[in-house]
Amino acid sequence: MKHSVPPIAAEHLPVLLCAMPKAELHMHIEGSLEPELIFALAERNNVQLPYASVEALRAAYAFTDLQSFLDIYYAGASVLLHEQDFYDMARAYLDRAVADNVVHTEIFFDPQTHTERGVAMETVINGLYRACRDAEIEQGISASLILSFLRHLSEDSAMQTLEAALPLRDRFIGVGLDSSELGNPPEKFARVFARCKQLGLHLVAHAGEEGPPAYIWGALDVLGVERIDHGVQSEKDAQLMQRLVKEQIPLTVCPLSNLKLCVVSDLADHNLPRLLKAGLKVMINSDDPAYFGGYVNENYTQLFAATGMGAAEAYQLARNSLEASFASEAQKAQWIAQLDQTFAGFAA
Ligand code: HPA
Ligand code: ZN
Repeated sequence: MKHSVPPIAAEHLPVLLCAMPKAELHMHIEGSLEPELIFALAERNNVQLPYASVEALRAAYAFTDLQSFLDIYYAGASVLLHEQDFYDMARAYLDRAVADNVVHTEIFFDPQTHTERGVAMETVINGLYRACRDAEIEQGISASLILSFLRHLSEDSAMQTLEAALPLRDRFIGVGLDSSELGNPPEKFARVFARCKQLGLHLVAHAGEEGPPAYIWGALDVLGVERIDHGVQSEKDAQLMQRLVKEQIPLTVCPLSNLKLCVVSDLADHNLPRLLKAGLKVMINSDDPAYFGGYVNENYTQLFAATGMGAAEAYQLARNSLEASFASEAQKAQWIAQLDQTFAGFAA
């Protein structure tokens, strides 16, 4: 471990994991829609759902791979029609994030999921943005938006999406790439990412969730991304591992997502502890918390319980999350000081 951490009794670890300030850098706002809110919005908007009840919907959350999840995730998002719907969804997530001591979150949203159904781009962005600003003022959490392109759609569609969002350029800090990975390599989006780079947007992409290490190379070298979302398949490529360590490229890992989408068969076998030990800049995130069984603290506590990691790993993961964020260096230093204080308090 890079930092020395005061000795902390093992029985205090679960409380420390929850109490420590952290950033969340990989979560999809549409994946925070709880079944109860899906049903409430369906009623409010007169949308018919193919499920009879909250329980029936929750029972359908038995996934075999990424695509089996995405089919249900896009169906759930169909209840979002008005600016207030996007606002309510984001405020519900931000409440949960505050409760988990998330001091900063960078939230993915998928505009194409909504514009393809006839919802206006401004409706989506304004609802989410207003929720972020209100949560910042009322609850003190820092929150920004990352516009994510759906990789199963064409690059032309991504380019049109970008153009439609540009009048609201000041309301999002970057772009990402998500949805069905296999068969949709990063290279497909080379031109749109080049344009985003010119515009000064931050760049990230999902790569190496189900896809091969070649997709991580492609995201780095062809798209020029600053972080890799997931990236857990990097372990299959020793040369890639060396590069990720040398350049300290952040991997936004999502343990419960990997478990629920059968990327790993058991949390105890998750490779995050090995990636961390090898010197990669990894951290823990929730991905789609309403679908995968928990928000970010649940990801921390379940992974630590399954793998036996301790306080030194907890510190490094939280610190990585803060350092890998797109916040200012001055802001990051403040949060790291808060993190140090939290650990000092537990050492007493
Ligand atoms: N992978 C790809 N696309 C997604 C995910 C994910 O884990 N969650 C929401 N969209
Ligand atoms: Zn994701």
